[in-house]
Amino acid sequence: MDVYYIDGEFVTEDRAVISAKDLAVLRGFGVFDFLITYNRRPFYLEAHVQRLKNSAEKIGLQLNHTAEEICDVVNETVRRNSHQTESNIRIVYTGGVSSDGVTPEGNGKLMVMVTPKLELPESWYTDGAKIITLSIERFIPESKSTNYLSAVWALQEAHRQGGIESIYVDRNRRLLEGTTTNIFFFKKDKLVTPKSDILPGITRSVVLNLVKDRFDVQLRDVDKEEVDSMEEVFITASNREIVPVVTIDDTRVGNGKPGERTRQIMALFREYTTAYGQQRV
Ligand SMILES: Cc1ncc(COP(=O)(O)O)c(C=O)c1O
Repeated sequence: MDVYYIDGEFVTEDRAVISAKDLAVLRGFGVFDFLITYNRRPFYLEAHVQRLKNSAEKIGLQLNHTAEEICDVVNETVRRNSHQTESNIRIVYTGGVSSDGVTPEGNGKLMVMVTPKLELPESWYTDGAKIITLSIERFIPESKSTNYLSAVWALQEAHRQGGIESIYVDRNRRLLEGTTTNIFFFKKDKLVTPKSDILPGITRSVVLNLVKDRFDVQLRDVDKEEVDSMEEVFITASNREIVPVVTIDDTRVGNGKPGERTRQIMALFREYTTAYGQQRV
């Protein structure tokens, strides 16, 4: 059975419980982060923990652990799940129990859940996927809070329409990010990705670093009308890595197949994560 860390203890998953009075349960007040392992090494653990801290700061949640302590707990939880080949790692910091059920009292709980890595359909990567757009704005988008109501709702809508992801469009018709992904596209010789009012994805930053000497990169606002002129599109996320997109709503992207430059970036990323798992980077 998988082992989780909950508030100072390592327990089997069936004994991993938190209080019903926790603000994470009552109000969706808490933060989380998510990463995976390569060859059992957590990918960019320090960056994910730093983002967890930023997420907490942005919503006014006090963390009672240092980044180093959280990293140690994650590494130990991974070690205690050595029966898993590769793992998904979810770090959650709850809002804690509150006397009046709404005011945080600085007693949040740290949880680390390590589960077997979920494999995704191979066809997404070979044939490309469909995504949809939806008019939704996240509250404090730079924070990965446990309030993901919009994501759960929007993803169900994507599935209803035969898609694998929904991209949020704001009131100014800016295309921002997916429910759990960032978006990139090629237009002429430029690789473009939205600049602000998004969660700064760790995969996004790794990709930007890998391609900076190969492509002309633009971080800027993206108008939804630009969908028609996108030549290649892909989305990035820790669990999905890089998924080529061939349809957005009813619009076919390029020739309807994963683009050449996208496949090049997918290969670069694969090479990098493999080396990372072998502790070579
Ligand atoms: C809203 C949102 N945008 C983007 C991402 C992608 O971030 P990362 O590459 O760090 O997984 C996520 C990850 O879950 C997310 O929730």
